[in-house]
Amino acid sequence: MLRIGVLASHTGSNFQAVVDACTDGQLDASVVQLVSNNSNSKVMTRAIKSGIPAAHLSSKSYPEFSDLDRAICDTMTSAEVDLILLAGYMKKLGPRVLEEYEDRIINVHPSLLPKYGGQGFYGLRVHEAVLASGDSETGASVHLVNGEYDTGRILAQRSLRVEPGDTAEALSDRVHRLEYELLIDVIGQFATENATENTVEEKS
Ligand code: GRF
Repeated sequence: MLRIGVLASHTGSNFQAVVDACTDGQLDASVVQLVSNNSNSKVMTRAIKSGIPAAHLSSKSYPEFSDLDRAICDTMTSAEVDLILLAGYMKKLGPRVLEEYEDRIINVHPSLLPKYGGQGFYGLRVHEAVLASGDSETGASVHLVNGEYDTGRILAQRSLRVEPGDTAEALSDRVHRLEYELLIDVIGQFATENATENTVEEKS
């Protein structure tokens, strides 16, 4: 079973969607660790309610970036995490965790990257920019994570039409629902690969 560690800063609706998909058997996976830089976040409450270990690791507790990097990496390896999901995590990751989990850290972003990605494009700002540009479609992306914001290799995208009269809030709602489906698809692929690797290891 694929063991998932999540990094998240705020609401955690994507976190919840993944937890639910694991619980109801849609995914052959389990969320085994949450790390949040925000101790008052709703995502922390969600993790505690679901009985998922939740660690608060931030630049307040670790003023040195390299110490925070090490703490995040150690937390994930101690929980024997196979795949790290960034679901609304607003900070950059450090070199230690990026190296330890190379090609096994994914982020979900509420636009069709490379459009509307990078620093400053988060939350409603993304959807406001889409509306201001007059684009006829938008969507969600899941990509591999590197040391910059939203620039790693794109693994999957899904799009939807921008309707006349759409507001940023309405787009945010519809894109969020798309994100849940997309994430579950991509994590499902990691879970399948993980199961195949384990079978090969058992046989050899
Ligand atoms: C999502 O839109 C995700 O794409 C972005 O941050 C948002 C987090 O939403 N990276 P939630 O906290 O999962 O509801």
